[in-house]
Amino acid sequence: MKTSMTINGSPETLDLDPRTTLLDALRDHLNLTGSKKGCDHGQCGACTVLVGGRRINACLSLAVMHDGDDITTVEGLSQDGRSPLQAAFVRHDGMQCGYCTPGQLCSGTAVMDEIADGWPSYVSDDLNGPYLLTHEELSERMSGNICRCSCYPGINAAIQEAAEEEFSHAE
Ligand code: FES
Ligand code: FES
Repeated sequence: MKTSMTINGSPETLDLDPRTTLLDALRDHLNLTGSKKGCDHGQCGACTVLVGGRRINACLSLAVMHDGDDITTVEGLSQDGRSPLQAAFVRHDGMQCGYCTPGQLCSGTAVMDEIADGWPSYVSDDLNGPYLLTHEELSERMSGNICRCSCYPGINAAIQEAAEEEFSHAE
């Protein structure tokens, strides 16, 4: 079945068995192996990609459902070196084995976009600023991404710092 998608800004047309997941289409048909297959059951988040800016588990979605969609994988988060979020992950040791990291980066990127969009708006006296999340709220929003190396403090610190850099002076 012919399926056309825009992947990291490039148009791609694949001829796929309709049972092919988006994750397998990316990894096995386009050689985009950054998105990882951890559980293949929607439980770990290692396969997280962005579809139209929203994060999904690519292992739970059939590729043919994404005909015409705009998809970003970890390979597309930065066109020239590291994105600010990727650089913050390095600064804060947000990874050990790195297996979960592509999914964490895609989810973290989506969280930053959610903050930019004011969705939902979390403004309270507990926060350092109107665009910043508490650690609890950030952990909740990142709860779909499991890290078996338990790098959560570094992951959260990296997202907090990248969001702070991007948004704290926005008002
Ligand atoms: Fe998709 Fe685990 S591989 S959620
Ligand atoms: Fe190893 Fe997260 S860094 S699973």
